[in-house]
Amino acid sequence: MHMHKLEKIWLTVGVSMLGVFLIVLGVGAFALGAQPPGDHASGHHREVVDPETVDQTAPFNEPGLKKIGDNEYDAYMLAFAFGYGPEKMEIPAGATVHFHMTSKDVVHGFQIPGTNVNMMVVPGEINHLTYKFTKPGEYLVLCNEYCGAAHEMMQTRIIVK
Ligand code: CUA
Repeated sequence: MHMHKLEKIWLTVGVSMLGVFLIVLGVGAFALGAQPPGDHASGHHREVVDPETVDQTAPFNEPGLKKIGDNEYDAYMLAFAFGYGPEKMEIPAGATVHFHMTSKDVVHGFQIPGTNVNMMVVPGEINHLTYKFTKPGEYLVLCNEYCGAAHEMMQTRIIVK
């Protein structure tokens, strides 16, 4: 079969464009695949959890303090409309506490007025924050993200002694 010169040119152009398109797709997929999940800029890693089953999944099935070192604790907490688990926490004065929090439903807040403790608690994620409780006393914990009708009532207390 004899092809016209013009047909040949167009066929070449078409094949080249297909090639370029495939390369672009491949490079794009590679770039996405090569990027590890998580927030690069802040250096934070993201941990995911299923909000539907989180209250039956360790360690969030038993929220509370777990001693991990010399006056150092992990605090696993659940936020939900409209409260926090555990209901009450007692922390020895001077303790460093690593909070690991997640939400069972919507976005909540975790703020301790008078400290720099302030974070968002997002369903499906485990959010982290570390704080050293040097002064004994009763620390009020408030939700500072609007989460529904009883948002204003959503609070708990941390006792440091
Ligand atoms: Cu929870 Cu506002």
